[in-house]
Amino acid sequence: MISLNRRQFLATSAAFAGLPVSAGAAGTAPATLIAQQSDVQLLPTNYSKTSLWCFDGRSPGPEIRVAQGGRVQRRLVNQFSQGTSTHWHGIRIDNAMDGVSGLTQDAVQPGGTFDYDFTVPDAGTYWYHAHNRSFEQVARGLYGALIVEEADPLDIDREEVLVLDDWLIDPATAQIKDDFGAPHDLSHAGRIGNLLTTNGTFNLGLSVRKNERLRLRLINAANARSFQLGLEGLDGWAVALDGMPLTTPVRVNGAIILAPAQRIDLIVDVVADVGGTAHILQFGREDTFSQVAFEVVEGGTTNRRNVPSALPPNDHRMVDLKEATTLSLSMEGGAMGRMRSASLGGELKPIGEIVDAGFFWSFNGRVDGIEGDPLARLERGQNVRLKMVNDTAFPHAMHLHGIHFHEIAEDDALGPLRDTTLLERGQTRDIAFVADNPGQWLLHCHMLSHAASGMMTKIVVG
Ligand code: C2O
Ligand code: CU
Repeated sequence: MISLNRRQFLATSAAFAGLPVSAGAAGTAPATLIAQQSDVQLLPTNYSKTSLWCFDGRSPGPEIRVAQGGRVQRRLVNQFSQGTSTHWHGIRIDNAMDGVSGLTQDAVQPGGTFDYDFTVPDAGTYWYHAHNRSFEQVARGLYGALIVEEADPLDIDREEVLVLDDWLIDPATAQIKDDFGAPHDLSHAGRIGNLLTTNGTFNLGLSVRKNERLRLRLINAANARSFQLGLEGLDGWAVALDGMPLTTPVRVNGAIILAPAQRIDLIVDVVADVGGTAHILQFGREDTFSQVAFEVVEGGTTNRRNVPSALPPNDHRMVDLKEATTLSLSMEGGAMGRMRSASLGGELKPIGEIVDAGFFWSFNGRVDGIEGDPLARLERGQNVRLKMVNDTAFPHAMHLHGIHFHEIAEDDALGPLRDTTLLERGQTRDIAFVADNPGQWLLHCHMLSHAASGMMTKIVVG
């Protein structure tokens, strides 16, 4: 018998009875976010439903939408069988609210609750997801969109939030394949799914009108797949990456690569004709198919609009490369990699022992994880340049919590601000940032099987 304290009991019993536990008449209880198992029709209807782990009974969970500078308050209620916590990906957040089990909080146990309460300094497209056993919990559906709106509305007709995922499903049972932590996934490209969805639907279709202007907020919630997207019948501009506005809109021309956890905001004009269908295409290895279909219905206009203007910038401290301390991160390991040994728990061990302990990757020759020594301890306000070398045979999507960084171009020009950057195999990437948010911040690969098997470290600020 699990003993629940009174607050946990109230939260769970009310939710089980189907009563909304939201900020109500009393004005004291914050809105909830209930982590629960739910049977969802993910596959076509000739298959049975799939049991998912969801927020509020669906995946993606409820969209959380707030004005820039506003406050998000959610009581996480854990109604399933594992401990969990919720991370607010891409938000420059108060460290105590970052939602990392084992670092910024303890995992919320089954029957337990945790109150998240934070403000959102930057407008943009973000998401929230489980951050305990993420390689399983995110794969089972525990995530949702977090949208922070600009003060002034854009000159668009409408907006669509599009959360992309790939699921690994056993077609015989219609259930999520239960082989989380399979050594092949850990040591190769990660867990790649066999069912692609948008907003939890494999064949999402939307109606649009000719010359309508849409803002599309794309979020990649997949464990390991980088989506390779294209536009057909839509004329588009990228206006933000990972929530951060680009200084000038960039016309979409060819494939958009969206790595795990990355977001892109597009402004698109419908140029397909009435009766036709525009698409967001996904280019696979062998085939190209429609990720989202936009059916063009009557009622459009004959006039195109002007090229869109840039989104208003978020307020950021400019990084000073000349003042920057240089840090290095060498990423090694994986199948076909060169790692022969690594330090685990402070002791140098041969690769056989590293693998037996469940690790396949190292950062700077170390497998430290959440509890290990940080990559760096930084003064608050320090300028940092981090040189990352992907000395492995696989791509990695590196994510820093709590602080946005610039990608640095070869000529030292500051590239776009991001929170997740993709390094192709063998690639090197420098990023730079001002360490202006105090706390312990994870730096990890967002191919979640990689993060679980060694590709995780942290930086400590202040
Ligand atoms: Cu999107 Cu450490 O996470
Ligand atoms: Cu990786």
